[in-house]
Amino acid sequence: MLKIEPTGAVLGATVHGLDLSSPVSDRDFGRVLNALGAHGVLHFPDMHFEIDEFQAFSLRFGDIQGQPVPGQTVIDKAYGGVGTLSNLKENGQYIGAAYAGQDWHTDMSYRETMGFVNLLYGIRIPRRDGKPLGGTEFSNMHAAHDALPEDLKARLTGMTASHSFEKFWEHMRVDKGADRPPMTDEQRRARPPVTHPLFLTHPISGRKVLYCNPGYTTRINELPPDESDRTLNLLFEHQLEMRFRHTHHWTEHDLIIWDHIGTIHRAIDDYGPDDIRLMRRCQIMANKVFDPAFLQLARAAA
Ligand code: OGA
Ligand code: MN
Repeated sequence: MLKIEPTGAVLGATVHGLDLSSPVSDRDFGRVLNALGAHGVLHFPDMHFEIDEFQAFSLRFGDIQGQPVPGQTVIDKAYGGVGTLSNLKENGQYIGAAYAGQDWHTDMSYRETMGFVNLLYGIRIPRRDGKPLGGTEFSNMHAAHDALPEDLKARLTGMTASHSFEKFWEHMRVDKGADRPPMTDEQRRARPPVTHPLFLTHPISGRKVLYCNPGYTTRINELPPDESDRTLNLLFEHQLEMRFRHTHHWTEHDLIIWDHIGTIHRAIDDYGPDDIRLMRRCQIMANKVFDPAFLQLARAAA
């Protein structure tokens, strides 16, 4: 029997009683879905599982994302789509994806089929003076939507935004000194900007969320460029107000599952190259979560 305990903060809940060593029942899976819609980020402490159990559970949420861009040179010792996120190097090369989203973003908002959840499992957590480093910070986009001034909400209703992979790629490359070349024309063609509604109805909560993020969102399509820039800057500032934010401080064997539709996130960059952080990760696309038959699992468990 799952026990779901809200953190009491603006988002997040701790979930006890999930066992991945046998298939999770539809009812428990439905309760996890509802908790994701309600709390955005779920923390499962002290989890122990085999990598194929992790993969099987991840696939319940949807398909695993392939490479963000074709030809990206990440030596990922992936296991059936289970990735590695770490600053560990072997023979001078990162063993997995290295730059853990160290600025605010939403995974896969730049894809036609957006991201639904990430499952991130902490194996090695850096510490200094006993305190964990490399936390993951989230901001609640249900709350950010609801707190928008009514006149702005009314004006932006029905509008759409463009999301571009290249925006974050260039930000990490140019502003953060990430060791990566500019995107090639071929990569650009493979990842053209995509459009999503600025206010989305969350498939599980049924409530509106603000769907934009500083990492990938480039334009409000229905506004002239300068007004789009001004409005986006205002939305970015609004969605990062401290009242919407909550940080997860990691412990080894934590599993975190978060909802990309109702939150934005960043990795906190407060540790050095010798402070080792090692995570296993599945990035799951929203190819199932808008499907009524899938949502029935959540409804039946409500
Ligand atoms: C991610 C990500 C944050 C972290 O996995 O998409 O941004 O704290 N990770 O590692
Ligand atoms: Mn991310």
